[in-house]
Amino acid sequence: MGYGLLKGKKGIIFGALDNRSIAWKVAEKCVEEGAEIVLTNAPVALRMGGIKELGEKLNAEIIPADVTVMEDIENLVSTAKAKFGGIDFVLHPVGMSPNVRKGRDYTDLNYEFYHKTLDISAMSLHRVMQTCYKQDALNEYASVIAVTYIAAERTYTGYGDMAEAKAMLESIARSFGHHYGKHKSVRVNTVSQSPTVTTAGSGVEGFDDFINNANNLSPLGNASAEECADYCVTLFSDLTRKVTMQNLFHDGGYSSMGAAE
Ligand SMILES: NC(=O)c1ccc[n+]([C@@H]2O[C@H](COP(=O)([O-])OP(=O)(O)OC[C@H]3O[C@@H](n4cnc5c(N)ncnc54)[C@H](O)[C@@H]3O)[C@@H](O)[C@H]2O)c1
Repeated sequence: MGYGLLKGKKGIIFGALDNRSIAWKVAEKCVEEGAEIVLTNAPVALRMGGIKELGEKLNAEIIPADVTVMEDIENLVSTAKAKFGGIDFVLHPVGMSPNVRKGRDYTDLNYEFYHKTLDISAMSLHRVMQTCYKQDALNEYASVIAVTYIAAERTYTGYGDMAEAKAMLESIARSFGHHYGKHKSVRVNTVSQSPTVTTAGSGVEGFDDFINNANNLSPLGNASAEECADYCVTLFSDLTRKVTMQNLFHDGGYSSMGAAE
């Protein structure tokens, strides 16, 4: 049972691939808190089937969209707007690096792949926001969250070109946060999440070490996907209406640590 924090709110949730996905947990919590949502993912991810099960469970329409394809995003936003009238929140938990996936070392990057990494993982946030802006799809005080990782600002050797993608993602959130804030009081933030066992997470080299080191160093331990979902609900709610243009660490204290015994 929820607290009704999102009662009457309508949202778009990207990125639910399977039941480990951060997006999956956020979708469940948002509906539990009273929201109505549409789900979206790339056509190739839809074919894996998991999202259908989630859509049925949450009574949520699924609208296919590849975040790198402008027409897909335009169709997604216009369909969601026609359905809901206006949109109150958007979750962008999308990331993929062909370089990382194919095990390319940072000193041996393929530049076609590099473009794809930035397009899928960062520029896509701009594309989604610009489309919402042009279609006037977001309601006043709507809240947009993208999910990021601390490798945007410190070096984690296995994270490859995703580090640049996350730095760019955080910057887009600040820049568009300014424009959409002035325009319509829309909030835009990034949540910097602990390492979490998911399909995207597990693709990173040395991921088990990331997880264990972070867990040992964080006074509260790593934040789970469920806890990330709880945090996102607060940021989508009316209780955080003046929080915008921030990179918000959701990591059990890890980002403030130096060394511990
Ligand atoms: N798992 C972690 O350790 C961790 C930590 C910090 C931040 N993050 C970030 O959290 C977000 C969610 O990832 P996750 O860990 O839940 O993994 P996930 O693999 O479950 O989710 C990533 C999603 O991105 C989608 N995607 C990839 N290419 C796409 C495209 N072209 N168009 C539309 N969708 C596309 C995938 O289909 C998938 O649903 C990502 O941005 C990831 O970088 C993850």
